[in-house]
Amino acid sequence: MSWPHHWPLGSLLMLVDRIADLDRHPWRRGVRADAYTRRVALNAVPEAPSVEEYCSLRVAAGLSAMDPDAAAAALPRSLYAVTIRSEQQLIAMGRVVGDGLHVQVVDIAVHPEFQGQGLSRQILEEIMSFIAALPRSTIVSLFADVDWLYGKFGFVQPQHTTGMTLKNWPASA
Ligand SMILES: CC(C)(COP(=O)(O)OP(=O)(O)OC[C@H]1O[C@@H](n2cnc3c(N)ncnc32)[C@H](O)[C@@H]1OP(=O)(O)O)[C@@H](O)C(=O)NCCC(=O)NCCS
Repeated sequence: MSWPHHWPLGSLLMLVDRIADLDRHPWRRGVRADAYTRRVALNAVPEAPSVEEYCSLRVAAGLSAMDPDAAAAALPRSLYAVTIRSEQQLIAMGRVVGDGLHVQVVDIAVHPEFQGQGLSRQILEEIMSFIAALPRSTIVSLFADVDWLYGKFGFVQPQHTTGMTLKNWPASA
């Protein structure tokens, strides 16, 4: 397609400059540069989900159900949390928990209707910015249910350590 001769070249340059400028605005943080589609409205926000939203998005995404009382106590203690909403509805989330010496990336979940649109990348980019500000001695870990996502952000399977989880809980006293 040729550039219409009645549009001055200066207009094109101004448009390019405006688009580049948008990337420097704080409100664009977390929005991918290719977000000139519907994604522009789906901005990652640094806030924890409500208990109800959190519990239902985990289940909708196929993750295990969480105890709502435990979630009510735990969510405010997140070190960092990111959410993405579409028209008020929570559609993606992720959290970092821990004490600053050891931190864990948890609850990365995108509603099935919105998967494959780059939302987990937005969530993880925000989380990686948070992690980048932590001391270099901090141990950052996660349990990955999918093996194709976290390698993109620098996570590797440890060579000399085995991640473990408790399957058989001790009988309560
Ligand atoms: C896993 C999950 C979080 C991914 O979210 P998503 O928004 O669909 O992923 P994105 O669209 O942001 O894709 C992220 C990257 O993975 C790639 N990707 C997406 N789906 C993929 C697949 N099935 N296989 C390989 N790569 C895939 C994308 O191409 C993209 O790569 P790029 O940014 O380099 O182009 C989402 O599918 C989900 O919530 N699943 C259920 C819950 C879950 O398993 N959570 C993870 C717990 S550890």
